Amino acid sequence: MNKPVKQHLIDPEICIRCYTCEMTCPVGAILHDENNVVVDVDKCEFCMDCIPVCPTGSIDEWRVVKTPYSVEEQLSWSELPPQDEMDGEEADTSVEALDDEIAKLLADAHQGAGGKPKAPASAAKPTVNMYNLARPVTARVQGNYRLTSADSDTDIRHIILDFQGQPFPVLEGQSLGIIAPGTDAEGKAHLPRLYSVSSPRDGERPNFNNVSLTVKREAQGLCSNYVCDLKMGDEVRVTGPFGSTFLMPDDPDARLLMICTGTGSAPMRSFTMRRQRARGSKGGEMVLFFGARSPDTLPYFGPLNKVPDRVLRKHMVFSRIQGAPKEYVQDRLLTEEEAVAEMLQDPATHIYVCGLRGMEEGVEKAMTTIAETFGVQWASLRDQMRGEGRYHVETY
Ligand code: A2P
Repeated sequence: MNKPVKQHLIDPEICIRCYTCEMTCPVGAILHDENNVVVDVDKCEFCMDCIPVCPTGSIDEWRVVKTPYSVEEQLSWSELPPQDEMDGEEADTSVEALDDEIAKLLADAHQGAGGKPKAPASAAKPTVNMYNLARPVTARVQGNYRLTSADSDTDIRHIILDFQGQPFPVLEGQSLGIIAPGTDAEGKAHLPRLYSVSSPRDGERPNFNNVSLTVKREAQGLCSNYVCDLKMGDEVRVTGPFGSTFLMPDDPDARLLMICTGTGSAPMRSFTMRRQRARGSKGGEMVLFFGARSPDTLPYFGPLNKVPDRVLRKHMVFSRIQGAPKEYVQDRLLTEEEAVAEMLQDPATHIYVCGLRGMEEGVEKAMTTIAETFGVQWASLRDQMRGEGRYHVETY
C-alpha cells in the first residue's frame, strides 16, 4: 500500500487565474491551461513561496492522498475533491503533519479525548505544516516577560515572537515548534519542541503579525531553558503551525467550558482574547476553571481577573496556599456542579481540557458524578460531544 502523501492543490472555484503563483514558483511546479491553474506533485518542493502571493487564498488547499492527483486530472476539475477518509493511525498522523515526530507528539497530547479528535463544526480552517524542520521560518523575539513572581520556584514566561512580514497564519488552540540551536549527542539537529500559541489569530498586538507563547522553565528542559533565556532581538527558528482539531468554534453563540492547569492556560487565553476582540461582551458564555499552586504562579492572574465576568466566568483554584486546603480544578467542578451540569446539557457547549496529564483522571471522575445528577452516563455524553467536535483534550 502507498504511504499517504500530502498534496498541494488549488481551489478552482476560488482561483481568479491571475497566475501570480505560477510566476512566483521557483521550481516551475505550477502551470495552467484555459481551464485551471494546478500544482505538479512531482515538482512541488513545499517551499511555500506561492502561499502569501495569492490574492484569494485558493492556493492554500491540501489533501492527504494515497495516490496523488495527476496534472491532467486537476486541469479537468471544476471543484476540489473532498478529503478521503482514511482508516486508522496512518491517516491520523499524516493529516496532522508532514513531520512524523510532531504528529506523534500531537496525537499523544490529544489522546485524553479518548477517540479520534474532531474540530468544532464552525471552526475556521487551520493552516498546518507551513514550515518544517528542513525549512523553518526565522522569527525575532520582541519580548520575554516573567509572569510568575521573582521569588517563586515556578518560572513561567510570556514570550512574543515577530514574524516580520513572513506569513504565519495561526488559529487559537494551534501550536508551533521551536528548534533549539545546536545538535544532540548524535550530532543531529534538535527536533522542534511544541508550544501552544497564547495569542489570538490576529496577533498578540492586533495586525502586527506576532504571536505569544506561555513557556515554563523545566529544570532539565533543553528547549524550555533556551526559550526562557531568549533576549529581545534574538532570532528563533520556528516550525508549524500545527494542530487541526483543538480549535475554537467560530459560532459566536457557542459556550466554552475551559479547564486548565499552569501553562495549559495558553489556548484558553487565546480563545478569550479572540472572543473579546471579535465580539466584545456579546456571544456565548465562557467559563474557566484554572488550577495553579498560588496566585503568584498563575500565569496572567492580573489580566484574567480584569476580563469582565459577563465575558469570562473565572474559577481560579490553588493547591499550595498556606493555611488553606489544597484545591484542584476537579474539586471546583464538583463545587460548581449545578452550573456545570447545565452547560453539559446544552448542545452549544464545547469543552477544552489543557495542562497536566494527571488532571484527566480527576476531571473524568468529576464529570461522571456531575452527569449522573441529570441521569446521563458521562462516557457516552463525552463520546457524543467528541464526535460533534465539542470535546477537546491536550495534556502532557
Ligand atoms: P500541586 O500543588 O499538587 O502540584 P504545576 O505548577 O506543576 O504546573 O501544576 C499546576 C497545578 O496543577 C498545581 O496547582 C498542581 O498542584 C495541580 N495539579 C497537580 N496534579 C494534579 C492533578 N492530578 N489534577 C489536577 N491538578 C493537579
